[in-house]
Amino acid sequence: MTETSSLHLASRVSQISPSPTMAVMAEAMRLTAEGEDVVDFSAGQPDFPTPEHIKKAGEDAIAQNFTRYTPNPGMPELRQAVADRYREDYGLAFDKSNVIITSGGKHALFGLMLALVDVGDEVVIPTPYWMTFAEQVRLAGGTPVLVATSEEDGFRMTAEIMAPAITDRTRMLLLNFPANPTGAVIGADEVRALGDLALDRDIFFLWDDTYARLMFEPAPSAAFQAVQKKLGDRFLIAGTASKAYAMTGWRIGWAMGPEVVIKACASLQSHMTSNASSISQKAALTALTSDQGPLAEMITEYVWRAKRLREGLLEIPDVRVAMPGGGFYLFPNISAHLRDGETTTDFASELLSEERVAVVPGLAFGHDGYLRTSFACSRERIEEGIVRMQRFFKARAARSSL
Ligand SMILES: Cc1ncc(COP(=O)(O)O)c(C=O)c1O
Repeated sequence: MTETSSLHLASRVSQISPSPTMAVMAEAMRLTAEGEDVVDFSAGQPDFPTPEHIKKAGEDAIAQNFTRYTPNPGMPELRQAVADRYREDYGLAFDKSNVIITSGGKHALFGLMLALVDVGDEVVIPTPYWMTFAEQVRLAGGTPVLVATSEEDGFRMTAEIMAPAITDRTRMLLLNFPANPTGAVIGADEVRALGDLALDRDIFFLWDDTYARLMFEPAPSAAFQAVQKKLGDRFLIAGTASKAYAMTGWRIGWAMGPEVVIKACASLQSHMTSNASSISQKAALTALTSDQGPLAEMITEYVWRAKRLREGLLEIPDVRVAMPGGGFYLFPNISAHLRDGETTTDFASELLSEERVAVVPGLAFGHDGYLRTSFACSRERIEEGIVRMQRFFKARAARSSL
Protein backbone atom coordinates (compact mmCIF):
# COMPACT_ATOMS: atom_id res chain seq x y z
CA MET A 1 0.00 0.00 0.00
CA THR A 2 1.18 3.52 -0.81
CA GLU A 3 2.20 5.69 2.14
CA THR A 4 -0.48 8.30 2.76
CA SER A 5 2.06 11.11 2.76
CA SER A 6 3.06 10.32 -0.83
CA LEU A 7 -0.51 10.39 -2.10
CA HIS A 8 -1.26 13.56 -3.96
CA LEU A 9 -4.81 14.81 -4.23
CA ALA A 10 -5.82 17.34 -6.85
CA SER A 11 -5.84 20.90 -5.54
CA ARG A 12 -9.56 21.32 -6.23
CA VAL A 13 -10.30 18.84 -3.45
CA SER A 14 -8.43 20.86 -0.85
CA GLN A 15 -10.45 23.95 -1.78
CA ILE A 16 -13.73 22.44 -0.68
CA SER A 17 -15.08 20.90 2.51
CA PRO A 18 -17.55 18.03 2.78
CA SER A 19 -21.24 18.94 3.13
CA PRO A 20 -21.76 19.92 6.82
CA THR A 21 -25.46 19.00 6.74
CA MET A 22 -24.59 15.53 5.49
CA ALA A 23 -22.07 15.21 8.36
CA VAL A 24 -24.71 15.89 11.05
CA MET A 25 -27.15 13.55 9.37
CA ALA A 26 -24.49 10.84 9.27
CA GLU A 27 -23.78 11.24 13.00
CA ALA A 28 -27.51 11.10 13.85
CA MET A 29 -27.86 7.98 11.70
CA ARG A 30 -24.83 6.37 13.35
CA LEU A 31 -26.26 6.93 16.84
CA THR A 32 -29.67 5.64 15.76
CA ALA A 33 -28.05 2.52 14.30
CA GLU A 34 -26.38 1.97 17.67
CA GLY A 35 -29.83 1.90 19.24
CA GLU A 36 -29.88 5.47 20.59
CA ASP A 37 -33.22 7.29 20.60
CA VAL A 38 -32.30 10.34 18.50
CA VAL A 39 -34.81 13.06 17.59
CA ASP A 40 -33.58 13.97 14.17
CA PHE A 41 -34.23 17.63 13.37
CA SER A 42 -31.24 17.60 11.01
CA ALA A 43 -32.88 15.78 8.13
CA GLY A 44 -32.98 17.50 4.78
CA GLN A 45 -35.55 15.10 3.45
CA PRO A 46 -39.25 14.31 3.88
CA ASP A 47 -40.11 11.62 6.41
CA PHE A 48 -43.01 10.61 4.17
CA PRO A 49 -42.32 7.50 2.09
CA THR A 50 -42.36 7.88 -1.68
CA PRO A 51 -46.08 7.69 -2.64
CA GLU A 52 -47.25 4.20 -3.68
CA HIS A 53 -48.14 5.08 -7.28
CA ILE A 54 -44.63 6.48 -7.83
CA LYS A 55 -42.98 3.38 -6.33
CA LYS A 56 -45.18 1.22 -8.52
CA ALA A 57 -43.95 3.05 -11.64
CA GLY A 58 -40.38 2.20 -10.61
CA GLU A 59 -41.31 -1.44 -10.02
CA ASP A 60 -43.06 -1.60 -13.39
CA ALA A 61 -39.98 -0.16 -15.08
CA ILE A 62 -37.89 -3.02 -13.67
CA ALA A 63 -40.51 -5.65 -14.52
CA GLN A 64 -40.69 -4.34 -18.10
CA ASN A 65 -36.91 -4.35 -18.41
CA PHE A 66 -36.72 -0.60 -18.72
CA THR A 67 -33.26 -0.96 -17.29
CA ARG A 68 -31.00 0.25 -20.07
CA TYR A 69 -29.40 3.58 -20.89
CA THR A 70 -31.88 6.29 -21.78
CA PRO A 71 -31.10 9.22 -24.07
CA ASN A 72 -28.34 11.24 -22.46
CA PRO A 73 -30.45 14.33 -21.52
CA GLY A 74 -33.27 12.10 -20.25
CA MET A 75 -36.39 10.36 -21.59
CA PRO A 76 -38.18 12.75 -23.99
CA GLU A 77 -41.53 12.15 -22.19
CA LEU A 78 -39.98 13.12 -18.86
CA ARG A 79 -38.33 16.23 -20.28
CA GLN A 80 -41.71 17.20 -21.71
CA ALA A 81 -43.44 16.39 -18.39
CA VAL A 82 -41.07 18.72 -16.53
CA ALA A 83 -41.74 21.50 -19.03
CA ASP A 84 -45.51 20.89 -18.76
CA ARG A 85 -45.41 20.96 -14.96
CA TYR A 86 -43.77 24.41 -14.95
CA ARG A 87 -46.30 25.63 -17.48
CA GLU A 88 -49.16 24.31 -15.38
CA ASP A 89 -47.77 25.42 -12.00
CA TYR A 90 -46.31 28.82 -12.89
CA GLY A 91 -47.26 29.54 -16.50
CA LEU A 92 -43.59 29.36 -17.53
CA ALA A 93 -42.78 28.70 -21.17
CA PHE A 94 -40.29 25.89 -21.50
CA ASP A 95 -40.17 23.16 -24.11
CA LYS A 96 -38.57 19.73 -23.72
CA SER A 97 -35.46 21.01 -25.52
CA ASN A 98 -35.07 23.43 -22.59
CA VAL A 99 -34.89 20.60 -20.03
CA ILE A 100 -32.19 18.14 -19.03
CA ILE A 101 -32.88 15.33 -16.56
CA THR A 102 -30.06 14.83 -14.08
CA SER A 103 -29.17 12.59 -11.15
CA GLY A 104 -30.75 14.94 -8.57
CA GLY A 105 -31.01 18.68 -8.16
CA LYS A 106 -27.45 18.97 -6.90
CA HIS A 107 -26.23 17.46 -10.14
CA ALA A 108 -28.43 19.83 -12.17
CA LEU A 109 -26.88 22.81 -10.40
CA PHE A 110 -23.39 21.46 -10.90
CA GLY A 111 -24.04 20.96 -14.62
CA LEU A 112 -25.12 24.60 -14.92
CA MET A 113 -22.04 25.78 -13.02
CA LEU A 114 -19.69 23.76 -15.20
CA ALA A 115 -21.46 24.92 -18.35
CA LEU A 116 -21.54 28.63 -17.49
CA VAL A 117 -18.91 29.59 -14.94
CA ASP A 118 -15.38 30.19 -16.16
CA VAL A 119 -12.24 30.62 -14.10
CA GLY A 120 -12.48 33.98 -12.36
CA ASP A 121 -16.22 34.42 -12.92
CA GLU A 122 -18.29 35.46 -9.93
CA VAL A 123 -21.62 34.07 -8.77
CA VAL A 124 -23.60 36.17 -6.32
CA ILE A 125 -25.27 34.12 -3.58
CA PRO A 126 -27.40 35.49 -0.73
CA THR A 127 -26.76 34.05 2.73
CA PRO A 128 -27.65 32.21 4.95
CA TYR A 129 -27.11 29.71 2.18
CA TRP A 130 -26.80 26.06 1.32
CA MET A 131 -23.04 25.64 1.19
CA THR A 132 -23.07 23.38 -1.83
CA PHE A 133 -23.73 26.50 -3.94
CA ALA A 134 -20.37 28.04 -3.07
CA GLU A 135 -18.45 24.77 -3.33
CA GLN A 136 -19.85 24.08 -6.77
CA VAL A 137 -18.89 27.57 -7.97
CA ARG A 138 -15.35 26.94 -6.65
CA LEU A 139 -15.20 23.51 -8.30
CA ALA A 140 -16.07 25.21 -11.58
CA GLY A 141 -13.15 27.61 -11.05
CA GLY A 142 -15.33 30.59 -10.14
CA THR A 143 -15.62 32.77 -7.08
CA PRO A 144 -18.73 32.75 -4.90
CA VAL A 145 -19.65 36.26 -3.74
CA LEU A 146 -21.72 36.02 -0.58
CA VAL A 147 -24.26 38.69 0.31
CA ALA A 148 -25.73 38.59 3.80
CA THR A 149 -29.46 39.00 4.31
CA SER A 150 -30.74 39.85 7.76
CA GLU A 151 -33.15 38.31 10.20
CA GLU A 152 -34.78 41.73 10.73
CA ASP A 153 -35.78 41.73 7.04
CA GLY A 154 -37.01 38.14 7.18
CA PHE A 155 -33.82 36.99 5.39
CA ARG A 156 -35.32 38.38 2.21
CA MET A 157 -33.03 38.63 -0.81
CA THR A 158 -33.69 42.03 -2.34
CA ALA A 159 -32.35 43.67 -5.47
CA GLU A 160 -31.20 46.52 -3.25
CA ILE A 161 -28.81 44.37 -1.22
CA MET A 162 -27.67 42.24 -4.16
CA ALA A 163 -26.90 45.09 -6.58
CA PRO A 164 -23.67 46.37 -4.93
CA ALA A 165 -22.18 42.85 -5.10
CA ILE A 166 -22.41 42.73 -8.89
CA THR A 167 -19.17 43.46 -10.75
CA ASP A 168 -17.88 43.09 -14.30
CA ARG A 169 -16.98 39.50 -13.45
CA THR A 170 -20.45 38.53 -12.24
CA ARG A 171 -21.95 35.80 -14.31
CA MET A 172 -24.97 34.81 -12.31
CA LEU A 173 -27.35 35.59 -9.48
CA LEU A 174 -28.16 32.34 -7.66
CA LEU A 175 -31.43 32.53 -5.76
CA ASN A 176 -32.94 29.71 -3.75
CA PHE A 177 -36.45 30.21 -2.47
CA PRO A 178 -38.14 29.05 -0.39
CA ALA A 179 -34.65 29.11 1.03
CA ASN A 180 -32.66 26.41 2.74
CA PRO A 181 -32.13 27.02 5.69
CA THR A 182 -34.38 30.04 6.43
CA GLY A 183 -37.59 29.18 4.57
CA ALA A 184 -37.59 32.77 3.29
CA VAL A 185 -39.57 33.42 0.11
CA ILE A 186 -39.49 36.36 -2.26
CA GLY A 187 -42.64 38.32 -3.05
CA ALA A 188 -43.78 39.26 -6.55
CA ASP A 189 -42.34 42.79 -6.51
CA GLU A 190 -38.95 41.58 -5.39
CA VAL A 191 -38.88 38.79 -7.97
CA ARG A 192 -39.51 41.43 -10.64
CA ALA A 193 -36.88 43.76 -9.19
CA LEU A 194 -34.29 40.98 -9.11
CA GLY A 195 -35.20 40.08 -12.70
CA ASP A 196 -34.69 43.72 -13.73
CA LEU A 197 -31.35 43.73 -11.96
CA ALA A 198 -30.20 40.62 -13.84
CA LEU A 199 -31.38 42.17 -17.12
CA ASP A 200 -29.73 45.48 -16.44
CA ARG A 201 -26.40 43.85 -15.59
CA ASP A 202 -26.69 41.19 -18.30
CA ILE A 203 -26.25 38.21 -15.97
CA PHE A 204 -28.02 34.90 -15.48
CA PHE A 205 -30.87 34.62 -12.97
CA LEU A 206 -30.75 31.06 -11.63
CA TRP A 207 -33.66 30.00 -9.45
CA ASP A 208 -33.11 26.91 -7.33
CA ASP A 209 -36.73 25.93 -6.80
CA THR A 210 -36.06 22.80 -4.75
CA TYR A 211 -38.70 23.73 -2.13
CA ALA A 212 -41.06 25.67 -4.42
CA ARG A 213 -43.75 23.01 -4.52
CA LEU A 214 -43.79 23.09 -0.73
CA MET A 215 -44.69 26.79 -0.51
CA PHE A 216 -47.27 27.67 2.13
CA GLU A 217 -48.78 30.50 0.04
CA PRO A 218 -49.38 30.61 -3.73
CA ALA A 219 -46.19 31.26 -5.72
CA PRO A 220 -45.82 34.68 -7.46
CA SER A 221 -46.41 33.08 -10.87
CA ALA A 222 -47.16 36.29 -12.75
CA ALA A 223 -43.83 37.72 -11.60
CA PHE A 224 -41.97 34.58 -12.72
CA GLN A 225 -43.63 34.85 -16.13
CA ALA A 226 -42.69 38.51 -16.41
CA VAL A 227 -39.07 37.74 -15.48
CA GLN A 228 -38.88 34.91 -18.00
CA LYS A 229 -40.29 37.15 -20.73
CA LYS A 230 -37.83 39.92 -19.97
CA LEU A 231 -34.76 37.79 -19.35
CA GLY A 232 -35.35 35.14 -22.02
CA ASP A 233 -32.20 33.02 -22.29
CA ARG A 234 -30.82 34.45 -19.06
CA PHE A 235 -33.52 32.76 -16.96
CA LEU A 236 -32.50 29.37 -15.56
CA ILE A 237 -34.08 26.93 -13.13
CA ALA A 238 -32.60 24.00 -11.20
CA GLY A 239 -35.24 21.70 -9.75
CA THR A 240 -35.70 18.27 -8.26
CA ALA A 241 -38.17 15.49 -7.56
CA SER A 242 -36.48 14.92 -4.20
CA LYS A 243 -38.43 17.03 -1.74
CA ALA A 244 -41.92 17.55 -3.20
CA TYR A 245 -42.39 13.91 -4.16
CA ALA A 246 -40.42 12.40 -1.27
CA MET A 247 -37.92 10.89 -3.72
CA THR A 248 -34.52 11.86 -2.31
CA GLY A 249 -33.01 8.43 -2.87
CA TRP A 250 -34.21 8.12 -6.45
CA ARG A 251 -31.87 10.93 -7.53
CA ILE A 252 -33.85 12.79 -10.17
CA GLY A 253 -33.49 16.50 -10.84
CA TRP A 254 -33.53 18.84 -13.82
CA ALA A 255 -32.00 21.99 -15.19
CA MET A 256 -33.96 24.32 -17.43
CA GLY A 257 -32.79 27.11 -19.67
CA PRO A 258 -31.93 27.95 -23.28
CA GLU A 259 -31.28 25.00 -25.55
CA VAL A 260 -27.61 25.90 -26.00
CA VAL A 261 -27.03 25.73 -22.23
CA ILE A 262 -29.02 22.50 -21.89
CA LYS A 263 -27.01 20.96 -24.73
CA ALA A 264 -23.79 21.96 -22.95
CA CYS A 265 -25.05 20.33 -19.73
CA ALA A 266 -25.97 17.21 -21.73
CA SER A 267 -22.54 17.09 -23.26
CA LEU A 268 -20.95 17.27 -19.79
CA GLN A 269 -23.39 14.67 -18.47
CA SER A 270 -22.57 12.34 -21.38
CA HIS A 271 -19.04 12.04 -19.99
CA MET A 272 -19.97 11.86 -16.32
CA THR A 273 -23.10 9.82 -15.68
CA SER A 274 -24.42 9.18 -19.23
CA ASN A 275 -27.98 9.62 -18.00
CA ALA A 276 -30.04 9.57 -14.81
CA SER A 277 -31.31 6.15 -13.72
CA SER A 278 -33.87 4.77 -16.19
CA ILE A 279 -36.00 3.32 -13.38
CA SER A 280 -36.03 6.57 -11.44
CA GLN A 281 -36.93 8.52 -14.57
CA LYS A 282 -40.03 6.36 -15.03
CA ALA A 283 -40.98 6.95 -11.40
CA ALA A 284 -40.44 10.71 -11.77
CA LEU A 285 -42.59 10.73 -14.90
CA THR A 286 -45.45 9.33 -12.84
CA ALA A 287 -44.75 11.80 -10.02
CA LEU A 288 -44.95 14.79 -12.36
CA THR A 289 -47.89 13.69 -14.48
CA SER A 290 -50.18 12.16 -11.86
CA ASP A 291 -52.64 13.95 -9.58
CA GLN A 292 -50.74 16.56 -7.54
CA GLY A 293 -53.32 16.30 -4.72
CA PRO A 294 -50.97 14.52 -2.26
CA LEU A 295 -48.75 17.63 -2.37
CA ALA A 296 -51.50 19.75 -0.82
CA GLU A 297 -51.86 17.18 1.97
CA MET A 298 -48.11 17.25 2.60
CA ILE A 299 -48.13 21.05 2.73
CA THR A 300 -51.00 21.08 5.24
CA GLU A 301 -49.04 18.70 7.44
CA TYR A 302 -45.81 20.75 7.11
CA VAL A 303 -47.65 23.94 8.06
CA TRP A 304 -49.00 22.26 11.20
CA ARG A 305 -45.54 21.02 12.14
CA ALA A 306 -43.88 24.36 11.42
CA LYS A 307 -46.36 26.13 13.68
CA ARG A 308 -46.02 23.58 16.46
CA LEU A 309 -42.22 23.47 16.45
CA ARG A 310 -42.06 27.27 16.30
CA GLU A 311 -44.45 27.51 19.24
CA GLY A 312 -42.28 25.09 21.23
CA LEU A 313 -39.10 27.02 20.41
CA LEU A 314 -40.66 30.37 21.26
CA GLU A 315 -41.45 29.08 24.75
CA ILE A 316 -37.68 29.07 25.36
CA PRO A 317 -36.62 32.47 26.72
CA ASP A 318 -34.67 34.67 24.28
CA VAL A 319 -35.15 32.42 21.27
CA ARG A 320 -36.53 34.12 18.15
CA VAL A 321 -37.87 32.29 15.13
CA ALA A 322 -40.04 33.29 12.18
CA MET A 323 -42.61 31.19 10.36
CA PRO A 324 -41.08 29.96 7.06
CA GLY A 325 -42.78 30.64 3.74
CA GLY A 326 -42.28 27.05 2.60
CA GLY A 327 -40.05 23.99 2.80
CA PHE A 328 -39.46 22.15 6.05
CA TYR A 329 -36.95 24.15 8.08
CA LEU A 330 -37.06 26.67 10.92
CA PHE A 331 -33.97 28.78 11.57
CA PRO A 332 -34.20 29.91 15.21
CA ASN A 333 -31.87 32.55 16.59
CA ILE A 334 -30.33 31.12 19.77
CA SER A 335 -27.41 33.57 19.98
CA ALA A 336 -28.47 34.80 23.41
CA HIS A 337 -27.67 31.32 24.71
CA LEU A 338 -24.14 31.01 23.36
CA ARG A 339 -21.32 31.36 25.84
CA ASP A 340 -18.28 33.51 25.08
CA GLY A 341 -16.39 31.95 22.19
CA GLU A 342 -18.93 29.17 21.76
CA THR A 343 -20.19 28.48 18.23
CA THR A 344 -23.43 26.84 17.15
CA THR A 345 -21.31 23.85 16.11
CA ASP A 346 -20.28 23.38 19.78
CA PHE A 347 -23.86 24.01 20.84
CA ALA A 348 -25.31 21.48 18.40
CA SER A 349 -22.86 18.81 19.41
CA GLU A 350 -23.68 19.34 23.13
CA LEU A 351 -27.39 19.10 22.29
CA LEU A 352 -26.82 15.85 20.45
CA SER A 353 -24.68 14.31 23.15
CA GLU A 354 -26.85 15.43 26.10
CA GLU A 355 -30.37 15.17 24.74
CA ARG A 356 -29.94 13.20 21.54
CA VAL A 357 -31.49 15.93 19.41
CA ALA A 358 -29.78 16.45 16.04
CA VAL A 359 -29.86 19.94 14.50
CA VAL A 360 -27.57 21.61 11.97
CA PRO A 361 -25.48 24.53 13.28
CA GLY A 362 -26.05 27.89 11.62
CA LEU A 363 -22.34 28.04 10.85
CA ALA A 364 -22.96 25.39 8.22
CA PHE A 365 -25.02 28.03 6.38
CA GLY A 366 -22.62 30.90 6.94
CA HIS A 367 -24.53 32.51 9.85
CA ASP A 368 -23.59 31.61 13.38
CA GLY A 369 -26.09 32.13 16.20
CA TYR A 370 -28.79 30.05 14.50
CA LEU A 371 -29.77 26.41 14.29
CA ARG A 372 -31.47 24.74 11.35
CA THR A 373 -34.24 22.59 12.75
CA SER A 374 -36.05 20.42 10.23
CA PHE A 375 -39.68 19.53 10.85
CA ALA A 376 -39.63 16.75 8.29
CA CYS A 377 -40.40 14.27 11.04
CA SER A 378 -43.56 13.00 12.71
CA ARG A 379 -45.73 15.01 15.10
CA GLU A 380 -44.73 12.63 17.89
CA ARG A 381 -41.02 13.28 17.24
CA ILE A 382 -41.65 17.01 17.14
CA GLU A 383 -43.36 16.90 20.56
CA GLU A 384 -40.51 14.80 21.97
CA GLY A 385 -37.92 17.12 20.44
CA ILE A 386 -39.59 20.19 21.95
CA VAL A 387 -39.53 18.61 25.42
CA ARG A 388 -35.84 17.72 25.06
CA MET A 389 -34.79 21.09 23.65
CA GLN A 390 -36.66 23.03 26.32
CA ARG A 391 -35.03 20.83 28.99
CA PHE A 392 -31.60 21.36 27.41
CA PHE A 393 -31.86 25.17 27.29
CA LYS A 394 -33.16 25.23 30.88
CA ALA A 395 -30.33 23.02 32.15
CA ARG A 396 -27.73 25.17 30.36
CA ALA A 397 -29.20 28.35 31.81
CA ALA A 398 -29.18 26.80 35.29
CA ARG A 399 -25.55 25.71 34.85
CA SER A 400 -24.39 29.14 33.73
CA SER A 401 -26.12 30.88 36.64
CA LEU A 402 -24.24 28.71 39.18
C1 LIG B 1 -31.32 24.36 -1.68
C2 LIG B 1 -31.14 22.99 -2.22
N1 LIG B 1 -30.92 22.84 -3.53
C3 LIG B 1 -30.75 21.63 -4.08
C4 LIG B 1 -30.80 20.49 -3.31
C5 LIG B 1 -30.55 19.20 -4.01
O1 LIG B 1 -31.42 18.17 -3.76
P1 LIG B 1 -31.27 16.79 -4.53
O2 LIG B 1 -29.89 16.66 -5.05
O3 LIG B 1 -31.64 15.75 -3.54
O4 LIG B 1 -32.26 16.83 -5.65
C6 LIG B 1 -31.00 20.59 -1.92
C7 LIG B 1 -30.98 19.42 -1.06
O5 LIG B 1 -30.95 19.47 0.14
C8 LIG B 1 -31.20 21.89 -1.37
O6 LIG B 1 -31.42 22.06 -0.07
